[in-house]
Amino acid sequence: MTESMSLSNPLVVPDPYPLYSTLAEREPVHRCEGLNAWAVMRYDDCADVLKDARFKAERMEEVLGSKFPGRHLPPDSIYHRFTKNIMMYADPPLHTALRRSTQQAFTRAAHDHYSRVIKRVAYELVASMPDSGEIDAVAELASRLPVQAAVHAFGVPEEDLEFVMPVVDVLMTYWSGPQDQPVELDLLLDRLENLHVYSLELLQGKRGKVVPETVIARLAAAQAENGDSTPEQTLHQLVLLIMALFAPTTPGSLSSGILSFATNPGQIRRFLEDEACAGNAANEVVRYNASNQFTWRVATTDVELNGKKIEKGQNVALFLGSANRDPRVFERPNEFDLDRKNSGKHLSFGTGLHSCLGRQIANLELTWFFTALLTRFPGIEPAGTPTWNPNLEFRSLRSLPLRLG
Ligand code: HEM
Repeated sequence: MTESMSLSNPLVVPDPYPLYSTLAEREPVHRCEGLNAWAVMRYDDCADVLKDARFKAERMEEVLGSKFPGRHLPPDSIYHRFTKNIMMYADPPLHTALRRSTQQAFTRAAHDHYSRVIKRVAYELVASMPDSGEIDAVAELASRLPVQAAVHAFGVPEEDLEFVMPVVDVLMTYWSGPQDQPVELDLLLDRLENLHVYSLELLQGKRGKVVPETVIARLAAAQAENGDSTPEQTLHQLVLLIMALFAPTTPGSLSSGILSFATNPGQIRRFLEDEACAGNAANEVVRYNASNQFTWRVATTDVELNGKKIEKGQNVALFLGSANRDPRVFERPNEFDLDRKNSGKHLSFGTGLHSCLGRQIANLELTWFFTALLTRFPGIEPAGTPTWNPNLEFRSLRSLPLRLG
């Protein structure tokens, strides 16, 4: 495979799907040196690995070694305390306890409340747009809704956004992509420490006002009841949630969805005329373009996968975005089609134990956003060439010129 055809080449970001399809046919488990990993391209293989206990989620010690060769941190550094105590990088039984420590904030009743709140903020956002003209849909819509949801459904105090968002931006440079690491380790550690101090003060009610009934309000109230996790672990989960909230994933899905509708006006009509299509929109939007194109695991033993021997300790990159276009699972996978019967089988939120904790909330944001947008602006169309950020792992649009009609 030539360098120009490599998964680690940023030039593939605008349209990685032809490369995925070639690899999935020719070499579905493919050694990618640029990622230092086995790239897994087909649906069944990705789903199998995500459910296979021989592949562990715990991997951040290795990531540190590859991003900052030769740098070692003591076990009590904020880096190790955090990465070894968050559900995303933990395996059972620790994972079970950590995930359970957040469950009070993710009950059915809690989601009913978040749905009402997100509906309101989505309609308010769309109502604030002019009646016609051109906008950048990333800056004006896709980036703004998750911030409104962060304040009103998650409970990040509005007055703290100025502090929190730049901190997460710095941290995400480390958490995203095989690209070179642009930020020094000491700065990253400093920001991680800052976010912990902030989150602790938030839980203790010493920061801005947390809106009642939000995720953070529920986590704070439930802290005392979490029998099998410690207060420090609850704190680490809150830091993780705050990072996930301001990560590029939700804006990435909202903006790619706007692009999918704007370039497929027939699907806007299907959305507006058929309730089932409207109900399937969030699924099909994230199937068509996963904003987390791949995630990682490490083999804990030698494993054979689709004819390739993966050795103990080697990384695997599971290409969720490629799995979502696997023709063995999805007919005409390259069509954006709200009538598709199995869009919900997509892997954009992962699957198995680590399946996304924010999945329902992200779906609510997508559903209410497109309902508000397409009802008011059924004639949206592209007003120029969209630009993608040069990051395949967290694939998101940087700008999307859009004509409101
Ligand atoms: C469209 C938006 C989102 C996408 C595409 C997305 C994607 C994902 C994926 C693929 C995973 C699984 C990673 C793996 O197995 O390695 C995951 C896990 C996770 N996500 Fe999301 N996510 C989104 C939004 C959110 C939001 C808004 C939150 C905040 C609550 C969130 C919190 C989490 C957490 C805490 C985990 C780890 C779960 C665990 O390890 O048990 N996500 N997400």
